[in-house]
Order: sequence, then structure tokens, then C-alpha cells
Amino acid sequence: MKRIGVLLCAAMLAGAGRYEANGPESEAFTQPIEGLDANHAASFRQGSGIFRQAWIIGPSQDHPDFVGLGPLYNRLSCIACHVKNGRGAAPDSENGVARTMAARLSVEGRDSHGGPRAHPHYGAQLNPEGVPGVACEGQAVVEYAEFDVTLSDGETTTLRRPKLSFRNLAYGALGPETKTSLRNAPPVFGLGLIESVSDAEILAGKGRPNFVFSVENGRKSLGRFGLKANQPNLRQQIANAFADEIGVTSSLFPFENCAPTQSACLGAPKPELDDAQLDAVVTYIRALAPPARRNPQDPRVADGESLFRAIGCSDCHRDALHVADFALQPALDGAEIHPYTDLLLHDMGEGLADGRDDFDAGSRDWRTPPLWGLGLAGKGGDGANFLHDGRARTPTEAILWHGGEAQASADAFCSLPKPQRHALLAFLNSL
Ligand code: HEC
Ligand code: HEC
Repeated sequence: MKRIGVLLCAAMLAGAGRYEANGPESEAFTQPIEGLDANHAASFRQGSGIFRQAWIIGPSQDHPDFVGLGPLYNRLSCIACHVKNGRGAAPDSENGVARTMAARLSVEGRDSHGGPRAHPHYGAQLNPEGVPGVACEGQAVVEYAEFDVTLSDGETTTLRRPKLSFRNLAYGALGPETKTSLRNAPPVFGLGLIESVSDAEILAGKGRPNFVFSVENGRKSLGRFGLKANQPNLRQQIANAFADEIGVTSSLFPFENCAPTQSACLGAPKPELDDAQLDAVVTYIRALAPPARRNPQDPRVADGESLFRAIGCSDCHRDALHVADFALQPALDGAEIHPYTDLLLHDMGEGLADGRDDFDAGSRDWRTPPLWGLGLAGKGGDGANFLHDGRARTPTEAILWHGGEAQASADAFCSLPKPQRHALLAFLNSL
């Protein structure tokens, strides 16, 4: 059996272009899966360029392929939020503007596809930037209230509870009935392997699925991307990011992210991203390899891994999934992968609730995030911020926020004697 994310995988994927323990950490998340054919390798390079490219309004003789920014947008490029292909950096208390995050907005009810109903004036998410002549919508600001948690051996950890507010709202008050969800940009490597896992294997897990609208199929499909598993596949996730985050339209999302009341915004030209460009970015994201583990044979790491299973972490952070169908690299079909997620939703308790449902995901539900690459988070200039809104600054803080279905597991973590707790953390750090 081929294995990815642990030892045999290292043997199998080792070689050209893959991050190894002694490589530059800033490149840990930018390496392609080994052995792409020439066409896919060319597409990967083109997609990498588009992912990094700062979009402009146009017209431009120098960059005719990259006009179409806005009229409303969050950032000029994908990489501005997915820093170094890793996490965004959450704001600190002093400069609270959420720059690498999306503040999703909705009101009571559902849209015609069963998804959240967009805000009548601000649309599906707040856009903090606008091109000249189009007022930006405003900024999402985070403040934190800190409090201490004492573990059973007396060690203390400080957690910070975020409070979201809005500044400079240009199109009127949001209104008290508005539901908000602040989401930090997650890492984007390893997602092609995750996309290739069969629905049946995911549905055999212990969490609950989200069924979300697939624009291409015109019907509900299993959600697996987005922090509430709110997107069915990478193509839709990516085309949606272009539309919502950069204001760049495509065949999948031909309309600008404007509310009906925003006439200056709606009047802008479209479409802006052609299918070949979209395909290149999809290939780029699909082909990004997860980093190899660093020291899986260290006895303390091995102890930590056993504890991870023993106290129930792997009930949700499933330790093995399988590649079912991976067109980019057929040699990986059937390979075992170790993203440490079940890709399903879990009720994580009131402390992590956002008060906003997303298709079948409720306010307290979140998709178990993959843990591969966790030990490299923040090492290459990306954010070392965990959980959906980046509130946790360390894996320990992230675990201490686990409530709801994960409460027993988090309690067990708190009660571990220090050496065992540190072994568990050493295991997480090896991922
Ligand atoms: C303003 C910051 C921001 C920008 C810019 C941005 N993203 Fe994201 N991205 C996010 C957030 C936040 C999420 C989680 C979305 C959710 O749960 O609704 C996300 C999710 C994703 C995911 C899914 C990750 C997963 O684990 O499910 C992919 C893939 C992705 N973005 C690709 C892109 C691409 C491609 C671009 C450029 C077109 C882009 N993003 C631009 C913030 C951003
Ligand atoms: C009931 C399911 C469940 C269990 C059990 C569980 N987790 Fe999680 N874990 C999640 C979900 C869901 C999130 C995302 C929560 C959020 O973003 O608000 C998460 C987030 C995390 C994160 C942050 C990852 C990131 O990229 O932000 C870490 C680290 C983590 N879990 C480790 C653990 C460890 C260690 C244990 C065992 C002590 C554990 N989890 C038990 C479901 C679970």
C-alpha cells in the first residue's frame, strides 16, 4: 500500500520539487506532486503565476490577461490571503482589521439553491476595497478578550475570544438580523488529494455531511471545501474565490458580487477570467503536494500519535483516507493519505459558534480541518493562526477551544500529564 504523509510516501514522493525537512520552509507549501506530465506541469506553472498575480482594473497593454479587478474586492491576489499557500495572519488587538479573512454575511432564510440568503445591500460577503468610483463596503474589525485556562497540571494558557465589528459601512447599517461568519484563509496544499477521496469513504466517517449546491451539476453534492464544507469541488471553490474575493468573473460565476442596490458596481464589464486560466489555477491547487512529515520515527512523536488516537482526536481527525481517482498522477490511485480529517461537520460547541448556517451546516458546525503541514504553519512567513477565525495562536489554544462533540477529547487533553501532553504536541508538530 502506498502511503502519503508518512514514511512510505516520503520514499514514493521523494525527489524533484517536493519539500523535504531540510528545504527552505518558505517553500514548504509550494511544491507540486512528483511526476506531473508535461502538460500538467505547464498548467501548474501558469496557475501558480495567476495565483500570485495582482489583478488590475484595465485596460493594460503590459498585462492584458490580468484585468478585471473589482469593482468590489477584498485583495488584489489569491496569495495575499493564502500567504505562502498557508494560512492568513489574523489581526492582533491593536490593528484589528481582518485583512486575510472573509466576513460572510447573510439574512434569515435561504437562497433558491438552499444556501445562505445574501445580505440585500452587501451581498454574500463584505468587500473592503472598491475600484475608483465604487465605494468600498467597509471593514471587518476584530477585538479580543483574553482569559486564562489552567490545565490539570497547573500550566496556564491564555485564550483570546474574538469580537467582530464593522467600520465605515458605505451602504447603510447591516441591520440587527444580519448573520456574520468571520473566516480566515486556510492553507491550499494537498487539496487535490482530498478532492480525489470517494464520497463513500467520506460518508463512512462519524461526522455529518454538508450537501451544497453544485453550479456545474445544477444539484446538491457532498461539500468538502470551505470551513463549513460549503463548496463541492475545487473548480467551484476557486471560481467563487475569484468572484467574491477579487471581483473577477468566470463562466461559472458570470455576475459581479454586487447587491441589486449597488448600481455603480453592477455596471462594470464582464467576464474576466477565461476557462483556460481557471483550469490552470484549478490544476495548480490540485497538484500542490502536502509537505513530508519531519520526524515520524522519534519515539516521543510515536507516543503522541498513540495518544492522539487514545483520547479520540482521530474520531474526527481521521488518520487515513484513500486516493480514489487522481487524474493528475494516476500512480497515486489507491494510495493511503494522512490529512487527519474526516472532511465532515461536527458541532464544536457555543464557544466556536458563528451564529450563521451554511446549507446543512449549523451555527456551531465546522468541517474538521486537515492537520497535515500543521508543524510548519507560520515558519515560512504565513500566519500561525488556527481555527476558523484564526483566534488560536498555538495548537494548544486550538485544542482548548474544542467543545460540543469534541469536549470529551479536549478534557482528556487537559488532564494529560505534562510529558504526555508534550508528546501529543510533538506529534502535531511532526505533521
Ligand atoms: C480575502 C482573503 C482571500 C482571498 C483573496 C482568497 N481566499 Fe481562498 N479562502 C479564503 C477563506 C476565508 C476561505 C474559507 C472559505 C469559507 O469557508 O467560506 C478560503 C478557501 C479557499 C479554498 C478551500 C480551502 C479548503 O481547505 O477548503 C481554496 C482552494 C481557495 N480558497 C483558493 C483561493 C484562490 C484560488 C483565490 C484567488 C482567486 C483565493 N482563494 C483568494 C480567503 C481568501
Ligand atoms: C468532534 C470532532 C473533533 C475532535 C474529537 C477533535 N477535533 Fe480538532 N478540530 C475539529 C474541528 C471541527 C476543528 C475546526 C474548528 C474551528 O475552526 O472552529 C478542529 C480544529 C483543530 C485544530 C486547528 C487546526 C487548524 O488548522 O486550524 C487542531 C490543532 C486540532 N483540531 C487538534 C485536535 C486534537 C489534538 C484533538 C484531540 C485532543 C482534536 N483536535 C479533537 C474537530 C475535532
